[in-house]
Amino acid sequence: MKNKIIITKDYKEMSEVVTKLFIKQLLEKPSTVWGLATGSTPVGLYERLGKRKDLDFSKSKSFNLDEYESLKPDDPQSYYYFMQEELFSKINISESNYFLPNGAAEDLVSECKNYDFLIKSNGGIDLQLLGIGTNGHVGFNEPSNKFSDGTHLVDLTDQTIKDNADKYFEGNTNLVPKRALSMGTMQIVKAKKIIILASGKNKAWAVSESIEGTVTPKVPASILQKHDDVTWIIDKAAASKLKNRNKLELTTKVL
Ligand code: GLP
Repeated sequence: MKNKIIITKDYKEMSEVVTKLFIKQLLEKPSTVWGLATGSTPVGLYERLGKRKDLDFSKSKSFNLDEYESLKPDDPQSYYYFMQEELFSKINISESNYFLPNGAAEDLVSECKNYDFLIKSNGGIDLQLLGIGTNGHVGFNEPSNKFSDGTHLVDLTDQTIKDNADKYFEGNTNLVPKRALSMGTMQIVKAKKIIILASGKNKAWAVSESIEGTVTPKVPASILQKHDDVTWIIDKAAASKLKNRNKLELTTKVL
């Protein structure tokens, strides 16, 4: 098992640990190409980065994992809007240096191809941040029979629609777009380093299957077992179904 696992007391400590790792990366490489994620999990990280006015993001670039189909960037439910509110408006990264797939593009196939090309022509992702869905999805790569490749259009599962409705659409599944553009799983694992966050009991199944289960596209995050530089930062509740939890907690203290 090559992945590093850091188990934290709670969400706050998880956010503090990932913030430290982000700052370390930025200081070591100011021109870092970030791969960023949406969802509630990275909000604590974004809040902390936003408060650190001493950090210089002017040389770095960022590519987000995904975006809902048909939502324009100025739609408050879009991931573009989310990223601006939570992070980009608070740090000194210029608008021309951060990118998300455009779910409202007329030609979504070309949009996906162009997005992959843009990532490649910028040298690829240095540090990819991931959250995880309750069904083990990363980005919007839902459980399936095959690991997806590049950026593509995805049909969201009922579970993901429900999870996201509960958090961001006042519980109304009818308001959640049913499709999204997402970087593919194989594209995600091209990143040089990956940090994946999980908090809360509802992530415990996905975490244990991804870390200790078989590598299978039925649990998309399980592909991370094959990557050389992955750090899981998960709180105790999210770690509660790991079989080797005690051993891992010991490892954490040593880290
Ligand atoms: C969405 C996003 C994922 C995110 C997941 C978990 O489906 N596309 O990138 O990791 O939700 O979200 P949360 O962090 O809110 O639990």
